Amino acid sequence: MAFANAKVLLLGEHAVVYGQPAVAAGLDLGVDATGEAGTWQLVCDAWGIDARPGDGTRVGEAFAALVERLGATVGPGASVRVTLTPTVPAGAGLGSSAAMAVATARAIADQAGAALDEDTLFDAALASERVFHANPSGLDHAVAMRGGLVSYVRGTPPLIRSIQSPAPLDLVIAQVAPGGDTGALVSGVAARRDRFPDAIGRIIESIGDVARRGAAAIGAGDVAALGELMDIDHGLLSALGVSTPELDAAVGAARHAGALGAKLTGAGGGGCMVALVTPDTASRVASALDALGATVYPARVGG
Ligand code: MEV
Repeated sequence: MAFANAKVLLLGEHAVVYGQPAVAAGLDLGVDATGEAGTWQLVCDAWGIDARPGDGTRVGEAFAALVERLGATVGPGASVRVTLTPTVPAGAGLGSSAAMAVATARAIADQAGAALDEDTLFDAALASERVFHANPSGLDHAVAMRGGLVSYVRGTPPLIRSIQSPAPLDLVIAQVAPGGDTGALVSGVAARRDRFPDAIGRIIESIGDVARRGAAAIGAGDVAALGELMDIDHGLLSALGVSTPELDAAVGAARHAGALGAKLTGAGGGGCMVALVTPDTASRVASALDALGATVYPARVGG
């Protein structure tokens, strides 16, 4: 059985596409994958997936891209049927497609008895992610591969640094609506940047600055500053056009219930928000989000 982590983005989504730093944490939620001998096939009952390379579906296309990149590693004779068992919701902004790609690649390599190096895994998962999101920063599958609390800067190779937090961070993640289309949201930000290059360019830089300061705040154990920076980040993401009334309402409810900070997480357009809480406020924040009809996932990261 191979596992890959889902992730929660604490700071920096969208700006990370333009080379700014982002801060993310691997979650205990993720995707398990098992490989067995058979024709190339990817099956996930929970997500309604039964895909084969070249079957005309997006998942089939992503699977084909992944298998093609793994070809030299697993050898020409390999042929694997992969079954996925996810614990993360699909398409909610928690990196489900990246966790799927990484877990699938690991299961294929395990079944083929091949050693899978990190660069090949990163490139294979990137090829799969490109099918779902035209211009992925690579952050989602970098976290899917390694978990933990990290700062990430896109590049070849990307700059990935572990962040040591003196104490764990308590989070309440809540899915408020079905997730938006990441590719369309990323393209929407690009279009807004084309229309207003100076204004949007400065917002993207501000998001990067907030992420840098947030990484430092985590390292210093300054959760009050981290919460404030998450609030600022949500405002900046709203200015990019990726929040929704449902996300804004959930963020407001979490703050009202005592969260140190709250923001949308992932691509936006629906999906999830994340609140930074303390052990004292966690259940009050979770109840407030539950009362809005959201699906709540408490999480503890770092430390
Ligand atoms: C999606 O989890 C994060 C985005 O920044 C897209 C990306 O980094 O590729 C919106």
